Amino acid sequence: MKLASSLTAVVTGGASGLGAATARQLAAHGVKVAIFDLDAEHGEQVAAEIGGVFCQVNVAHAAEIDAAFAKSRALIGQERILVNCAGVGGGAAKTASRDRQSGEIREYPLENFERIIQINLIGTFRCITKSAAGMLTLPLLEDGERGAIVNTASVAAEDGQIGQAAYTASKAGVVGMTLTIARDLASEAIRVNTILPGIFDTPLLQRAAPAVKASLATQVPFPKRLGVAEEFAQLALTMITCNYLNGEDVRLDGAIRMAPR
Ligand SMILES: NC(=O)c1ccc[n+]([C@@H]2O[C@H](COP(=O)([O-])OP(=O)(O)OC[C@H]3O[C@@H](n4cnc5c(N)ncnc54)[C@H](O)[C@@H]3O)[C@@H](O)[C@H]2O)c1
Repeated sequence: MKLASSLTAVVTGGASGLGAATARQLAAHGVKVAIFDLDAEHGEQVAAEIGGVFCQVNVAHAAEIDAAFAKSRALIGQERILVNCAGVGGGAAKTASRDRQSGEIREYPLENFERIIQINLIGTFRCITKSAAGMLTLPLLEDGERGAIVNTASVAAEDGQIGQAAYTASKAGVVGMTLTIARDLASEAIRVNTILPGIFDTPLLQRAAPAVKASLATQVPFPKRLGVAEEFAQLALTMITCNYLNGEDVRLDGAIRMAPR
């Protein structure tokens, strides 16, 4: 797909980090961008900066997703591009554990597991179904394509660390469904790919202490630093523009393989 001002994109999680960088790069190529995010303050800021629109949405709520797509399509037209970046970490705790001092035995709180799956996995899937259904109303482009979808998983989908069962399950779900959805949508000329970021220096990570960030950076084989959001955006744009890339889950991680902790 050739990026042009005739195209519209929806970027979820576009108020911050990886999504904001992708929204900026799409806009720099003339694409009209709708930012879907919970965070209205930063979402409005990014949308104003790139001449796009902001739709406040919690991707865990189907009705809010439907309303956001309706608003975006009314304002800037039916999207041919969807980039799913909205997501949360957190909820870290062992599946079952014993307190060293008191001996108390704890089970992983299921409500955390459900919350993370709702946002990272079901939210991503709902945005894909909604967007793909809308794309089906559009004619093919000159290059024979109808649309392109990029999702964000994590290297945790493959190397989940201790305490990360919920996050890992949510991201492994995104990785696992990529080929299936690409096959579902192949006959309609819509491509689907997923990025598995390693450790990126975004607001999500900026909450970590500098010493923690420095230690994380030393674990990356090369280049020995955290990833920057623009590098994620670069791969997202490649996935959108390279017509032969389909059904792929691509790690973007400086060759890191996460240790158990
Ligand atoms: N930064 C990293 O190192 C890293 C590594 C692997 C994967 N990821 C994934 O990349 C994606 C983007 O992360 P980031 O680092 O840019 O984080 P970020 O916190 O900078 O951005 C995430 C954005 O998603 C939005 N969001 C969160 N929950 C939402 C919800 N329920 N509905 C709508 N919007 C919601 C937030 O408001 C925020 O603007 C996430 O899915 C994250 O899991 C990040």
